[in-house]
Amino acid sequence: MKQPLTITKLKKMKQSGEPISMLTAYDYPSAKLAEEAGIDVILVGDSLGNVVLGYDTTIPVTLDDMVYHSRAVARGATNTFIVADLPFMTYRLGKETTLRNAGRLLQEGYAHAVKLEGGADIADEVAACVRAGIPVMGHIGLTPQSVHQLGGYRVQGKLEREAQQLIEDAKALEAAGAFCIVLELVTEPLAEAISSALSIPTIGIGAGRGCDGQVLVYHDILQYASPYREKRFVKTYADLGTTIRNAIGAYVSEVKSREFPQEAHAFPMEQEMLRQLYGSGSGSNAASASDKGETAPAASSKQADKPVADVVKGGGTA
Ligand code: KIV
Repeated sequence: MKQPLTITKLKKMKQSGEPISMLTAYDYPSAKLAEEAGIDVILVGDSLGNVVLGYDTTIPVTLDDMVYHSRAVARGATNTFIVADLPFMTYRLGKETTLRNAGRLLQEGYAHAVKLEGGADIADEVAACVRAGIPVMGHIGLTPQSVHQLGGYRVQGKLEREAQQLIEDAKALEAAGAFCIVLELVTEPLAEAISSALSIPTIGIGAGRGCDGQVLVYHDILQYASPYREKRFVKTYADLGTTIRNAIGAYVSEVKSREFPQEAHAFPMEQEMLRQLYGSGSGSNAASASDKGETAPAASSKQADKPVADVVKGGGTA
């Protein structure tokens, strides 16, 4: 069985040059599928505000939202290292609040670590969490919780002043005890320079090839959205949006045309039982079926004797 990663193993992966794969997940099935596919780290990102809850930004996401989704992910991926985002403002109101909120993500959300957006400005919060035994992943570059301050979702570190600040932020996070840093939407040469200046791994999203690992959003790599908006830094590996829309469309038209359900999807009953319940006379399904000149459901199937749970296919509910 797969062994979950630890922060020590993640640091070793950087040293040995093994790239780290990270993907977001937000619920039980997405986490389970990501784990089955062999992902190293699952991020319960506050991007769930955009891709699951339909907000324009991550700003409305609450700590309760994060706890709720993190718990579901933890139930689905029992052998994977899980990082959960501290959402907007939950780590900007003083160390005590930060600790209480970060603690909830581990205690109630069953995450193994938390992620905070910011650099040198939040180094004290990061250090407080680490001292309290809460592993912290940093996140610099494009920090979506500050989208209004940044003036939009644009590539960071293009100007020398910005680039220098990002290098200082990365070093401050490492010094504060962060075990890893996400670099979002920064130029490739800068991401490469930051990655080689640090002993902890960097995980890039839109940060090019020089990072120690890569992270993408579940709904992006699977085009699980409508409409799906292409992004330069994303590679899509499937088109679930189209698959799901077509599948639901086929279901709707089969219900309308009565092609679904078929006899194979229905549960028959023994003729004798039908007679006992409804007799040969009035008020029954059998009677109304025969009134309409239709035949009552076949009674010969062995399924009639089975409890419902035995005839449920796959993992569905009865
Ligand atoms: O919330 C999120 O999904 C993230 C990733 C984009 C890194 O922070």
